[in-house]
Amino acid sequence: MTQDELKLQVAQAAIDYVVADTIIGVGTGSTANFFIDELAKIKGKIKGTVASSEATAQRLKGHGIPVFDLNSVDEISVYIDGADEADAGLNLIKGGGGALTREKIVLAVAKKFVCIADESKKVKVLGKFPLPIEVIPMARSYVAREVVKRFGGEPVLRDGFTTDNGNVILDIHGLQITDPVAMENELNSIVGVVTNGLFAARNADVFLCGTHQGVQTLTAK
Ligand code: A5P
Repeated sequence: MTQDELKLQVAQAAIDYVVADTIIGVGTGSTANFFIDELAKIKGKIKGTVASSEATAQRLKGHGIPVFDLNSVDEISVYIDGADEADAGLNLIKGGGGALTREKIVLAVAKKFVCIADESKKVKVLGKFPLPIEVIPMARSYVAREVVKRFGGEPVLRDGFTTDNGNVILDIHGLQITDPVAMENELNSIVGVVTNGLFAARNADVFLCGTHQGVQTLTAK
């Protein structure tokens, strides 16, 4: 099976977690795109969606799926999104596509988080994938120095990239993240940080992991 076939497999499995007659949250990235295309086939079953990025909103609308502004929505039944890395506790690194802030906001409103990814995203210790941090542009050098002082690693400015919120991304290379909740909270305390790509304080409830033997349904260990 190709990596795309593994992604399609988990996207199809995630359809079982879509709650009828509710609004669902939709993530960003290539795996989420497969999910959106599957969702289009059952779009009449849901009230609509909240999108975690402009790109996702465009794809949803392209399929004729209603997209609501989060401020007009009280409740999201489930949030379905990919990840860049997942550990056994279902703590994640996200933000490879730069949509981490809106992803975290939509997730905050959702009752349940179903993460969909192929098995290449499973790791023992988070950090091989560079940790994205969304930063207010004028604070980028300060934040980079603070991150190195507190955690080590090597911050690299994502070249030519601006987030949907008008900010920049620092990708932190070379981290070994053994306490993701503590690191997530401490990174958030640095002035100028908008969000970091650790999804640990609020981790995934279910991880649908695409393998060559089929979809594994994992819960936190
Ligand atoms: C987007 O900002 C990310 O959080 C994505 O969820 C993550 O990068 C996974 O993307 P792929 O499904 O393309 O691997």
